[in-house]
Amino acid sequence: MSREKLIEMTEHNIAHSKAGTIDMEPEVFKVPAEKYYDEEQYKAEVDKIFKRVPLLLATTAELPNPGDYKAMEAVGTPLIITRDSDGDVRAFMNMCSHRGAAIVDEGCGNTKRFMCPYHAWTFNQKGDLIGIASQQDFGDIDKSEYGLVPLPVEERAGLIWVCVRPDSDIDFDAFLSGYDELLANFGFETWHLHDQRRVEGPNWKVAYDGYLDLYHLPVLHSETFGTEISNQALYYNWGPHQRVSSPSPFMVGLEDMPKDQWQTEWMLMGVWTVFPHISIASFDGGGRSVMLSQLFPGDTPGESYTVQNYLMENAPDEEQAKQADEQFKLLEYVVETEDYGTGLRLQKALQTGVKDHVLFGRNEGGGQRFHGWVDKIIETEDEDLNKLFASSNS
Ligand code: FES
Repeated sequence: MSREKLIEMTEHNIAHSKAGTIDMEPEVFKVPAEKYYDEEQYKAEVDKIFKRVPLLLATTAELPNPGDYKAMEAVGTPLIITRDSDGDVRAFMNMCSHRGAAIVDEGCGNTKRFMCPYHAWTFNQKGDLIGIASQQDFGDIDKSEYGLVPLPVEERAGLIWVCVRPDSDIDFDAFLSGYDELLANFGFETWHLHDQRRVEGPNWKVAYDGYLDLYHLPVLHSETFGTEISNQALYYNWGPHQRVSSPSPFMVGLEDMPKDQWQTEWMLMGVWTVFPHISIASFDGGGRSVMLSQLFPGDTPGESYTVQNYLMENAPDEEQAKQADEQFKLLEYVVETEDYGTGLRLQKALQTGVKDHVLFGRNEGGGQRFHGWVDKIIETEDEDLNKLFASSNS
């Protein structure tokens, strides 16, 4: 089914390539400039979006084996993602049930049990409290009531989504809207994480606008990607998630080939964004690879940070690793210097308050829909959130 959808999108791209056209939105769209710097708006985005919807916080490549864990902070929430002895992924608050200490430092590792560094209470990979230090002196408590606080988590398509609110009743199916089935075509379950780095940037929406925008490519990235790269985009949507691809002339040649020979890899080209904070873009440095970017709001409206993950279909040999390093270095430059450098200057200008609104053209449908979803989700009460995502799929 998902391959059929890929073929359908490819045919749509080919038709546009031949006609020299793109899908266009009905109108030019305005976003009030203050939405990029207003404190209340920023707080609403963190509380109503990042703390309510599942966030793609890890890849299977980071936690391939039982006992593997990743400890991190996401929008102010310290958490641990683990793979237990049955191979299931779990997520917990990184918060000891005794007095709240972080039970493990940020980073990845492998362990059978977590021992809190404060008073040495121990927890297994399923989050159960299994040991109380000097229990005879501590007094009686029911251990079963003092496990780690679990967080909703789902592993699909080699990607791991976590909700940072323990009380969330988010419906992952409604939220993902079938997009995970398309992402499964990459086969990330068996991919290898080659490298990872963090890049600082402007307001998270300024940064995210760039991932949805091909219009800027031959201009802002003329020296890195060249001036011949297309500035035209076609958008495909599943709920709030969007795939961005260009009607590349390369695709036209596919028409002469039987469809069962169309390689999945070709049909996955472009940028796959996962709302509200992920971009997955294909490259070929050192072999088939993607850069998976995880974008997070920073401490103030004008700041964000991005964790860039260079994932490779196969673990590279020495030569391939060198090529992968070069590709990743180039992408760091493109994002940090060209995209976020521009974004930080843009942010400063908008914060003067002189500009009333920014524009998204009829050719920038991805940005139009993204900002529409930001507004819709903020306006939606907790009890209606699942309905909102479910209704976008019907
Ligand atoms: S806070 Fe963890 S054992 Fe005391």
